[in-house]
Amino acid sequence: MRIILLGPPGAGKGTQAQSISNKYNIPQISTGDIFRKNIAGGTELGILAKSYMDKGLLVPDNVTIDLVKNRLKEDDTRNGFLLDGFPRTIHQAEVLEALLKEQSVAIDVALQIEVPREFIIQRMTGRRVCPNCGASYHLEFNPPMLRSICDDCGSHLIQREDDKRETVVERLEIYDFQTAPLIAYYTEKGKLKTVDGTKAINEVFEDIIRILGEAN
Ligand code: AP5
Ligand code: ZN
Repeated sequence: MRIILLGPPGAGKGTQAQSISNKYNIPQISTGDIFRKNIAGGTELGILAKSYMDKGLLVPDNVTIDLVKNRLKEDDTRNGFLLDGFPRTIHQAEVLEALLKEQSVAIDVALQIEVPREFIIQRMTGRRVCPNCGASYHLEFNPPMLRSICDDCGSHLIQREDDKRETVVERLEIYDFQTAPLIAYYTEKGKLKTVDGTKAINEVFEDIIRILGEAN
């Protein structure tokens, strides 16, 4: 299955992506995670991406598109993949479509996780992430067993640089302006499915399985 996850920052894309990827045995390709790994590793790509991400801006299309193109050449994507955080502009979506067409395949579902604004700030300011393994928690909604310690690897959890309130506001504006038009784009193509992202994490996942089951 070839799936795109859509939704504003903090909608729960990364949280659900992990479960979907495990259940359907398809790789999760998160452009945000790839950028963060590069930032942690001090690579040239990381330094460039950080200069945009810290301001809440999108990394330029050409950089992001090259990254995804290369990732989609890897063998593990042959039977499907889950894109989390890509595409994020109409241009990225068009390039992706052309790229898949060359391989005579297409996206099966663009799954929108819908969450109203009032939930978002609370979700993002309460998020804590593991700098070592990338696991994501929420102080209230998905807390680690020991406060500030990753359940999976024991590292100290941190707050993402771009989860500070001012940056969150900027990211939401960028989402409305550059990414939200993708909802109409995939609706027109008959690919859009929407799930209510305000329910509890496991309930959202159950709804997603139902939707993906029907789409398959
Ligand atoms: P990215 O990492 O993709 O960030 P994002 O899209 O803003 O999404 P988030 O990771 O903030 O949120 P999420 O929807 O994954 O929510 P999560 O599951 O963590 O991108 C970061 C930056 O990289 C961008 O700003 C940009 O600069 C750059 N970038 C990335 N892709 C790009 C592209 N294609 N083009 C250009 N630039 C790009 O959940 C949030 C919190 O809520 C967590 O604490 C979680 O535990 C909690 N939570 C989740 N679900 C629930 C629930 N149902 N109930 C209660 N709490 C919940
Ligand atoms: Zn960890």
